[in-house]
Amino acid sequence: MITFDEATGIFHLQGKQTSYFMQKNEHNHLFHLYWGSRLAKRLPDYVLKEIKRASYIADTDHIKEYKLERLPQEYPAFGNSDLRKPAYQLSFQNGTQISDFRYIAHEISEGKPSLEGLPSLRESADCETLKITLQDDYQQVSMFLFYTLYEEADIITRHIELRNNSSDKLEINQLNSACVELPTNDLDLLHLSGSWARETHIQRTPLSQLNYRVESTRGSSSHEHNPFIALMDKETTETTGSVYSMNLVYSGNFEATVDVEMQDAVRMQIGINSTLFDWQLQPGKTFISPEAVLVYSQHGLQELTHKYHQAYQNYLMPPKFAKKERPILVNSWEACYFDLQEESLLELASSSKELGVELFVLDDGWFGHRDDTSSSLGDWFVDKQKFPQGLEHFINQIKQIGLDFGIWVEPEMISEDSDLYRKHPDWCIEVPGRLKSYSRGQFVLDLANAKVQDYLIEVLSELFQRYDIDYVKWDMNRSMTEAGSNILTNSQQKEFYHRYILGLYRVLETVTEQFPEILFENCAGGGGRFDPGMMYYMPQTWTSDDTDAIERLTIQEGSSLIYPAISMGAHVSQVPNHQIGRVTPLNTRGVVAMQGNFGYEMDLSKLSTEEKQEIQAQIDQFKLIRSTVQLGKFYRLAVPVKDNAKAWLFIDDQQVVVSYVQIHAKPNSPSKRLKLTGLNSETLYQLPSGEKRYGDELMAFGLAIDVVHKDFYSQQWILKKVEDE
Ligand code: DGJ
Repeated sequence: MITFDEATGIFHLQGKQTSYFMQKNEHNHLFHLYWGSRLAKRLPDYVLKEIKRASYIADTDHIKEYKLERLPQEYPAFGNSDLRKPAYQLSFQNGTQISDFRYIAHEISEGKPSLEGLPSLRESADCETLKITLQDDYQQVSMFLFYTLYEEADIITRHIELRNNSSDKLEINQLNSACVELPTNDLDLLHLSGSWARETHIQRTPLSQLNYRVESTRGSSSHEHNPFIALMDKETTETTGSVYSMNLVYSGNFEATVDVEMQDAVRMQIGINSTLFDWQLQPGKTFISPEAVLVYSQHGLQELTHKYHQAYQNYLMPPKFAKKERPILVNSWEACYFDLQEESLLELASSSKELGVELFVLDDGWFGHRDDTSSSLGDWFVDKQKFPQGLEHFINQIKQIGLDFGIWVEPEMISEDSDLYRKHPDWCIEVPGRLKSYSRGQFVLDLANAKVQDYLIEVLSELFQRYDIDYVKWDMNRSMTEAGSNILTNSQQKEFYHRYILGLYRVLETVTEQFPEILFENCAGGGGRFDPGMMYYMPQTWTSDDTDAIERLTIQEGSSLIYPAISMGAHVSQVPNHQIGRVTPLNTRGVVAMQGNFGYEMDLSKLSTEEKQEIQAQIDQFKLIRSTVQLGKFYRLAVPVKDNAKAWLFIDDQQVVVSYVQIHAKPNSPSKRLKLTGLNSETLYQLPSGEKRYGDELMAFGLAIDVVHKDFYSQQWILKKVEDE
């Protein structure tokens, strides 16, 4: 419920367990009052008094007595008496950058408007939207603050729109999507960082009086940082304590900042990265910021995770796939790389089918004359050397074997050695007149150019129309450098990165709408663009190029913080692992890959009899638990020896699936138990051993962990719900 109290000027966004308060004061400035656990009726008046005292507000109009810096701003401006980091910065035609936006109106309505040209959460049956209009009279610019409350899901989405009502030019230098102030700095900052093959490692840092910045300047949301930030009490654990978080529904350069100011208050913000962004807002035009998702948890990271998972599965992913179990796949990449030979691929497909695989994915190397990374991106036509009878013929055979067919594309890229480049060398992103850098032997297409967007839509539509394709892996394998465009004017060059993302979204929107039956997998060298923006179009992501089971424990734990298992690709690969050289047991590789959308990234046609049996058993097991993993509820479990093991469980109405992976064996270690969580105390479960245990017993005493003197040992239990005795 969203309410506004005329007498006090207080807005209250009241979710199932969360309240968010702000106030417009007598000068029509908007202040942030509170974000935290739900308050049933109102904000206690001492909160208001204390904020007033701290700010030395006099009942006067004189700006000199009105210290904005001492007040928690809802959406802070630049250049006034608040010298902290602003949420936005504008440059006006007269050369000034100071603005003063004040409340003029608001509207509370049912439902949620979509954001034109940008992905955003779809509306729920119970959502309500608050639109606050602010105006800067000196410059005739309107600002609209949008808040949508999802009451049951207990989340808030926010975005900003800015309209230039004047006949002057207006430059937007920064426009964050959300800003929140917290009254204390006694907090930890949590974010997800890493690099290629080491994505989403959870980092937790105590705050001190500093400015913190989590960002991407790589053109994509990046492997380096996920567009996510959280502040939490120092005592916050998996199940206790407060967490305040923001996730940006955007796939390009972003910044998430935390500024701890001299009076110990904390300002947390998220939005497009202002370092590489300036936008000319022409008279009469409106600029729309990406959407930020704000999630508060009163009960630690677990509750935070549940809120994100439910919101993303219910309102972000393409609805058609949100509740649809995902096929078990075999992917040709680590099995063959570029050495694609029809005969061996068909062998791989038939062996996979015999083992129970459902989808065959033809990865990189099927098109142009691509035998390595140096050529053919842009030429999305089958390589007749590799598939002499054409792709249709190959797909038919895959279908005859009884498998669905998936294909790899990297549409945003272009190789210098390609027909497309020979025809359109000016379609690359580049700074006119400067040399451009190769990365992975390729350049990036200029998606800010509508002609390039149209071409991609056309060529992909033809491809997906012509062939019987069930699944598409959409890859993107390099960062952007020398980022400029041959078609943008001088003053628009600073808009390039955002225009690229808008172009990408237009292509994605068109193609995914045109082919609603195709399951799209998002990939950017693994998790380089694992963000809510991409999830809006593509319901799953290849979590990381690192397929090592032990590395994956950390990567998947980080991703699982916000992204549901049904969005995470996880495959079993061969050993020694191709990224790290580690040898782990097949069982452990299976247990870890069963934390997401399960599949194989290895040559299943060259297995020993024991491996075949084991893989068949893995696939059978995954089929038994798939709906629980992909549609159930997920819990990270506390392990007896921290940092030397990971454990997690999935639960639905029928069963509980518990997984445990030990990292290193320790000598002389006593037997330990793994306590479960999230179970109904009175539900009776049957263990694989045949023993029966109630939920409360399993939560109080747990399951016995084998004492095994082997590194990387793992266990998985399926606990079946049974009738009470
Ligand atoms: C990077 C992806 O993450 C891999 O899985 C694979 O598709 C390669 N690209 C192909 O070039």
